[in-house]
Amino acid sequence: MSDQLSGKLILVTGAGDGIGKAAALAYAQQGATVILLGRTQAKLEAVYDSIVGQGLPEPVIHPLDLASATVDDYNLLGKSILEQFPALDGLLHNASVLGALGPIEHYPAEQWTKIMQINVNAMFMLTKALLPALAKSDDGRILMTSSSVGRKGRAYWGAYAVSKFATEGLMQVLAEELRNTSSIRVNSINPGATRTEMRRAAYPAEDPATLPTAESLMPAYVYLMSAQSRAIHGEALDIRELLARVQNDHASAN
Ligand SMILES: NC(=O)c1ccc[n+]([C@@H]2O[C@H](COP(=O)([O-])OP(=O)(O)OC[C@H]3O[C@@H](n4cnc5c(N)ncnc54)[C@H](OP(=O)(O)O)[C@@H]3O)[C@@H](O)[C@H]2O)c1
Repeated sequence: MSDQLSGKLILVTGAGDGIGKAAALAYAQQGATVILLGRTQAKLEAVYDSIVGQGLPEPVIHPLDLASATVDDYNLLGKSILEQFPALDGLLHNASVLGALGPIEHYPAEQWTKIMQINVNAMFMLTKALLPALAKSDDGRILMTSSSVGRKGRAYWGAYAVSKFATEGLMQVLAEELRNTSSIRVNSINPGATRTEMRRAAYPAEDPATLPTAESLMPAYVYLMSAQSRAIHGEALDIRELLARVQNDHASAN
């Protein structure tokens, strides 16, 4: 275990699988206590077991389906964090759904609404409910997960792409609001093509072995929660540039 995130409390959404699972493990390996939020309890329990099995700080499991969670559910979570911990230091918005790809002309309205609920509305409600706990940290972080299709539109990516444009919008609005009034740093990250279930669903013919693993992205995810990234605020970040930056920092420190 290293100690870049020692003593910090970080909440990760979609912590049961893919990039969120790798982030939860990486944050715990750096000394953070992690709140594992996700919809499948068994997956969260497996991540919990893995963290505890490595002798890392005991995480907290918080099962929640972002498709159906209400403002009350988010407020209850914010209140219980404030009661049990001095502050929340990090919030990684990672959970998202993709939905079936298809042209807007034939895009099912129900799928559109569900994707926007999980990928955008839930992120807004969770952020709002957790801001009081984040404000108690002396170095708070909100990291939102974007995508290349949230920075340039792509045919057939429908609500998923639009939800990622909205993610960038929420990041920018919140970052501007907090710029001069808070020490909380808000950014978005595009993890790029990564070997996960979501990628497999989007590109079923692709060989997953050709893709970077979620674990290989973690130096950047840890960096963005650590004190070293304090100067980064309101930026739409790209994983490859960040990983190169982290590697350079390491090289010049050694
Ligand atoms: N993989 C890529 O190539 C790629 C590229 C660009 C951006 N991204 C972004 O990176 C992030 C992580 O993606 P990933 O590839 O790791 O996806 P993933 O493997 O599909 O994992 C998504 C996670 O989100 C959770 N989740 C989905 N719907 C939820 C809901 N209603 N309530 C609570 N949790 C829910 C899932 O829970 P369950 O496991 O229980 O279903 C899962 O743990 C996403 O924001 C995605 O848009 C990924």
